[in-house]
Amino acid sequence: MAKARLSYQDTGVDGPALLLVHGFPLSSEMWRPQLETLGGRRRILAPDLPGFAGSEPAPDPLVVTMDYYADALAELLVDLGIDSVALGGLSMGGYVALAFWRRHPAAVDALILADSRAEADGPEAIAKRSAQQKQIRTGGTEDLIPQLLDGLLGATTKDQRPAIKESVRGLMAHPAEGYIGALEAMKNRPDSTGDLPGITVPTLLVVGDQDGLTPIELTRYMHEHIAGSQMVVIPEAGHLSNLEAPEAFTAAVAGFLGELERA
Ligand code: MLT
Repeated sequence: MAKARLSYQDTGVDGPALLLVHGFPLSSEMWRPQLETLGGRRRILAPDLPGFAGSEPAPDPLVVTMDYYADALAELLVDLGIDSVALGGLSMGGYVALAFWRRHPAAVDALILADSRAEADGPEAIAKRSAQQKQIRTGGTEDLIPQLLDGLLGATTKDQRPAIKESVRGLMAHPAEGYIGALEAMKNRPDSTGDLPGITVPTLLVVGDQDGLTPIELTRYMHEHIAGSQMVVIPEAGHLSNLEAPEAFTAAVAGFLGELERA
Protein backbone atom coordinates (compact mmCIF):
# COMPACT_ATOMS: atom_id res chain seq x y z
CA MET A 1 0.00 0.00 0.00
CA ALA A 2 1.23 3.54 -0.71
CA LYS A 3 2.99 5.30 2.10
CA ALA A 4 0.70 7.55 4.19
CA ARG A 5 1.90 11.12 4.72
CA LEU A 6 1.68 11.81 8.42
CA SER A 7 1.46 15.07 10.30
CA TYR A 8 3.25 14.97 13.64
CA GLN A 9 4.53 17.07 16.51
CA ASP A 10 8.20 16.88 17.45
CA THR A 11 9.69 18.65 20.45
CA GLY A 12 13.11 18.22 18.82
CA VAL A 13 15.15 17.90 22.02
CA ASP A 14 18.41 15.91 21.68
CA GLY A 15 18.49 12.37 23.02
CA PRO A 16 16.29 9.28 22.94
CA ALA A 17 12.81 9.83 21.58
CA LEU A 18 9.44 9.00 23.09
CA LEU A 19 6.83 8.26 20.41
CA LEU A 20 3.27 8.79 21.66
CA VAL A 21 0.30 7.36 19.76
CA HIS A 22 -3.13 8.89 20.28
CA GLY A 23 -6.43 7.18 21.05
CA PHE A 24 -9.72 7.18 19.14
CA PRO A 25 -11.07 9.55 17.90
CA LEU A 26 -8.43 12.07 18.90
CA SER A 27 -5.12 13.33 17.52
CA SER A 28 -1.57 14.17 18.54
CA GLU A 29 -3.04 17.18 20.36
CA MET A 30 -4.28 14.85 23.10
CA TRP A 31 -0.64 14.74 24.24
CA ARG A 32 -0.55 18.55 24.75
CA PRO A 33 0.14 18.32 28.54
CA GLN A 34 3.03 15.89 28.02
CA LEU A 35 4.40 17.85 25.01
CA GLU A 36 4.41 21.01 27.11
CA THR A 37 5.98 19.64 30.27
CA LEU A 38 8.08 16.59 29.46
CA GLY A 39 8.69 17.71 25.86
CA GLY A 40 11.03 20.50 26.99
CA ARG A 41 13.31 17.90 28.55
CA ARG A 42 13.16 15.04 26.06
CA ARG A 43 12.26 14.49 22.45
CA ILE A 44 8.59 13.62 22.08
CA LEU A 45 7.21 12.67 18.70
CA ALA A 46 3.43 12.65 18.51
CA PRO A 47 2.05 11.67 15.10
CA ASP A 48 -1.53 11.85 13.85
CA LEU A 49 -2.62 8.43 12.62
CA PRO A 50 -3.72 8.23 8.96
CA GLY A 51 -7.09 9.95 8.51
CA PHE A 52 -6.77 12.03 11.73
CA ALA A 53 -5.94 15.75 11.94
CA GLY A 54 -3.45 16.61 9.17
CA SER A 55 -2.52 13.04 8.22
CA GLU A 56 -3.51 11.69 4.87
CA PRO A 57 -6.26 9.05 5.06
CA ALA A 58 -5.72 5.51 3.75
CA PRO A 59 -6.82 5.08 0.11
CA ASP A 60 -9.77 3.02 1.36
CA PRO A 61 -10.79 3.11 5.05
CA LEU A 62 -11.85 -0.52 4.90
CA VAL A 63 -8.26 -1.67 4.43
CA VAL A 64 -7.03 0.06 7.59
CA THR A 65 -5.58 -2.29 10.19
CA MET A 66 -3.45 -1.87 13.30
CA ASP A 67 -0.56 -3.18 11.19
CA TYR A 68 -1.18 -0.43 8.62
CA TYR A 69 -1.00 2.19 11.37
CA ALA A 70 2.11 0.55 12.88
CA ASP A 71 3.90 0.44 9.54
CA ALA A 72 3.06 4.09 8.88
CA LEU A 73 4.75 4.98 12.19
CA ALA A 74 7.76 2.79 11.38
CA GLU A 75 8.11 4.61 8.04
CA LEU A 76 7.97 7.95 9.83
CA LEU A 77 10.85 6.86 12.08
CA VAL A 78 12.88 5.78 9.05
CA ASP A 79 12.21 9.15 7.39
CA LEU A 80 13.38 10.93 10.54
CA GLY A 81 16.49 8.75 10.84
CA ILE A 82 15.43 7.36 14.23
CA ASP A 83 16.40 3.74 14.90
CA SER A 84 14.41 3.10 18.06
CA VAL A 85 12.08 4.80 20.52
CA ALA A 86 10.27 4.39 23.79
CA LEU A 87 6.79 3.73 22.41
CA GLY A 88 3.67 4.83 24.23
CA GLY A 89 0.03 4.57 23.23
CA LEU A 90 -3.26 5.35 24.91
CA SER A 91 -6.17 3.02 24.25
CA MET A 92 -6.29 2.58 20.45
CA GLY A 93 -2.74 3.96 20.53
CA GLY A 94 -1.92 0.96 22.75
CA TYR A 95 -3.42 -1.42 20.17
CA VAL A 96 -1.15 0.25 17.60
CA ALA A 97 1.84 -0.04 19.95
CA LEU A 98 1.24 -3.79 20.36
CA ALA A 99 1.07 -4.20 16.56
CA PHE A 100 4.25 -2.13 16.24
CA TRP A 101 5.99 -4.35 18.80
CA ARG A 102 5.01 -7.47 16.81
CA ARG A 103 6.21 -6.03 13.50
CA HIS A 104 9.15 -3.83 14.45
CA PRO A 105 10.49 -5.09 17.81
CA ALA A 106 14.01 -3.85 17.14
CA ALA A 107 12.67 -0.28 17.03
CA VAL A 108 11.14 -0.52 20.53
CA ASP A 109 13.34 0.29 23.55
CA ALA A 110 10.46 0.43 26.02
CA LEU A 111 6.66 0.30 25.99
CA ILE A 112 4.03 2.44 27.70
CA LEU A 113 0.46 1.19 27.42
CA ALA A 114 -2.13 3.53 28.90
CA ASP A 115 -5.84 2.79 29.34
CA SER A 116 -5.59 0.00 26.82
CA ARG A 117 -6.10 -3.75 26.57
CA ALA A 118 -4.58 -6.79 24.89
CA GLU A 119 -7.87 -8.53 24.09
CA ALA A 120 -9.54 -8.33 20.66
CA ASP A 121 -13.10 -7.03 20.30
CA GLY A 122 -15.88 -9.48 21.13
CA PRO A 123 -18.98 -9.89 18.91
CA GLU A 124 -20.92 -7.16 20.75
CA ALA A 125 -18.14 -4.58 20.35
CA ILE A 126 -17.71 -5.49 16.68
CA ALA A 127 -21.44 -5.05 16.04
CA LYS A 128 -21.39 -1.69 17.84
CA ARG A 129 -18.47 -0.46 15.75
CA SER A 130 -20.18 -1.62 12.53
CA ALA A 131 -23.30 0.31 13.56
CA GLN A 132 -21.16 3.39 14.22
CA GLN A 133 -19.57 3.10 10.76
CA LYS A 134 -23.05 2.91 9.25
CA GLN A 135 -24.19 5.92 11.28
CA ILE A 136 -21.16 7.93 10.07
CA ARG A 137 -21.77 6.97 6.43
CA THR A 138 -25.34 8.17 6.59
CA GLY A 139 -25.19 11.11 9.01
CA GLY A 140 -21.54 12.02 9.59
CA THR A 141 -19.83 12.09 12.97
CA GLU A 142 -21.88 14.84 14.61
CA ASP A 143 -24.29 12.65 16.59
CA LEU A 144 -21.64 10.12 17.51
CA ILE A 145 -19.21 12.60 19.08
CA PRO A 146 -21.25 13.31 22.26
CA GLN A 147 -21.81 9.58 22.83
CA LEU A 148 -18.11 8.80 22.48
CA LEU A 149 -17.11 11.78 24.61
CA ASP A 150 -19.29 10.56 27.45
CA GLY A 151 -17.46 7.21 27.54
CA LEU A 152 -13.99 8.70 27.38
CA LEU A 153 -14.15 10.80 30.53
CA GLY A 154 -14.26 9.78 34.18
CA ALA A 155 -16.88 10.98 36.68
CA THR A 156 -14.56 13.52 38.30
CA THR A 157 -13.78 15.17 34.97
CA LYS A 158 -17.43 15.23 33.96
CA ASP A 159 -18.41 16.82 37.28
CA GLN A 160 -15.49 19.11 38.00
CA ARG A 161 -13.39 19.79 34.90
CA PRO A 162 -15.64 21.35 32.26
CA ALA A 163 -12.68 22.91 30.44
CA ILE A 164 -11.11 19.49 29.89
CA LYS A 165 -14.40 18.12 28.59
CA GLU A 166 -14.64 20.96 26.07
CA SER A 167 -11.04 20.63 24.97
CA VAL A 168 -11.51 16.89 24.36
CA ARG A 169 -14.65 17.61 22.32
CA GLY A 170 -12.51 19.95 20.24
CA LEU A 171 -10.07 17.12 19.49
CA MET A 172 -12.75 14.89 17.97
CA ALA A 173 -13.33 16.65 14.63
CA HIS A 174 -11.86 14.46 11.87
CA PRO A 175 -12.90 13.37 8.40
CA ALA A 176 -15.40 10.50 8.22
CA GLU A 177 -12.75 8.28 6.53
CA GLY A 178 -10.52 8.65 9.59
CA TYR A 179 -13.31 7.45 11.91
CA ILE A 180 -14.38 4.62 9.60
CA GLY A 181 -10.80 3.41 9.13
CA ALA A 182 -10.06 3.38 12.86
CA LEU A 183 -13.31 1.54 13.63
CA GLU A 184 -12.39 -1.02 10.97
CA ALA A 185 -8.91 -1.46 12.44
CA MET A 186 -10.26 -1.80 15.98
CA LYS A 187 -12.95 -4.32 15.15
CA ASN A 188 -10.54 -6.54 13.17
CA ARG A 189 -7.54 -6.28 15.47
CA PRO A 190 -6.10 -9.58 16.61
CA ASP A 191 -6.03 -10.78 20.17
CA SER A 192 -2.64 -9.76 21.60
CA THR A 193 -2.82 -11.63 24.91
CA GLY A 194 -0.50 -14.35 23.58
CA ASP A 195 2.16 -11.73 22.80
CA LEU A 196 2.38 -10.39 26.34
CA PRO A 197 4.80 -13.00 27.78
CA GLY A 198 7.13 -12.31 24.83
CA ILE A 199 7.45 -8.61 25.64
CA THR A 200 11.02 -8.29 26.80
CA VAL A 201 11.45 -4.51 26.91
CA PRO A 202 10.76 -2.49 30.07
CA THR A 203 7.02 -1.78 30.17
CA LEU A 204 4.90 0.74 32.02
CA LEU A 205 1.15 0.21 32.28
CA VAL A 206 -1.02 3.17 33.27
CA VAL A 207 -4.76 3.33 33.87
CA GLY A 208 -7.20 5.85 35.31
CA ASP A 209 -9.11 4.52 38.32
CA GLN A 210 -12.37 5.74 36.72
CA ASP A 211 -11.68 4.25 33.29
CA GLY A 212 -15.00 2.73 32.20
CA LEU A 213 -13.88 1.69 28.70
CA THR A 214 -10.77 -0.27 29.66
CA PRO A 215 -11.29 -1.00 33.35
CA ILE A 216 -8.36 -1.56 35.71
CA GLU A 217 -8.65 -5.38 35.56
CA LEU A 218 -7.58 -5.33 31.89
CA THR A 219 -4.41 -3.48 32.79
CA ARG A 220 -3.82 -5.80 35.74
CA TYR A 221 -4.05 -8.73 33.32
CA MET A 222 -1.30 -7.19 31.16
CA HIS A 223 0.77 -6.49 34.29
CA GLU A 224 0.53 -10.15 35.32
CA HIS A 225 1.59 -11.36 31.87
CA ILE A 226 4.42 -8.93 31.00
CA ALA A 227 7.41 -9.90 33.12
CA GLY A 228 8.84 -7.02 35.15
CA SER A 229 6.18 -4.55 34.02
CA GLN A 230 5.24 -1.64 36.26
CA MET A 231 1.61 -0.64 36.78
CA VAL A 232 0.44 2.79 37.89
CA VAL A 233 -3.20 3.62 38.69
CA ILE A 234 -4.00 7.31 38.25
CA PRO A 235 -6.52 8.62 40.80
CA GLU A 236 -9.61 10.56 39.70
CA ALA A 237 -9.01 9.93 36.00
CA GLY A 238 -11.11 8.16 33.40
CA HIS A 239 -10.08 6.67 30.05
CA LEU A 240 -8.08 9.76 29.04
CA SER A 241 -5.82 9.60 32.06
CA ASN A 242 -3.07 11.71 30.47
CA LEU A 243 -5.49 14.61 29.96
CA GLU A 244 -7.70 14.17 33.01
CA ALA A 245 -4.82 13.95 35.51
CA PRO A 246 -1.87 15.24 33.49
CA GLU A 247 0.50 15.80 36.39
CA ALA A 248 0.20 12.29 37.80
CA PHE A 249 0.37 10.75 34.32
CA THR A 250 3.44 12.74 33.26
CA ALA A 251 5.17 12.00 36.57
CA ALA A 252 4.63 8.26 36.04
CA VAL A 253 6.07 8.42 32.52
CA ALA A 254 8.98 10.68 33.52
CA GLY A 255 9.80 8.39 36.47
CA PHE A 256 9.75 5.30 34.27
CA LEU A 257 11.94 6.84 31.55
CA GLY A 258 14.30 8.28 34.16
CA GLU A 259 14.77 4.80 35.70
CA LEU A 260 15.58 3.36 32.28
CA GLU A 261 18.22 5.99 31.70
CA ARG A 262 19.82 5.34 35.07
CA ALA A 263 19.80 1.55 34.58
C1 MLT B 1 -9.83 4.78 22.39
O1 MLT B 1 -9.88 5.56 23.33
O2 MLT B 1 -8.87 4.74 21.62
C2 MLT B 1 -11.03 3.89 22.14
O3 MLT B 1 -11.96 4.09 23.13
C3 MLT B 1 -10.61 2.46 22.09
C4 MLT B 1 -11.74 1.52 21.83
O4 MLT B 1 -12.85 1.95 21.48
O5 MLT B 1 -11.51 0.30 21.94
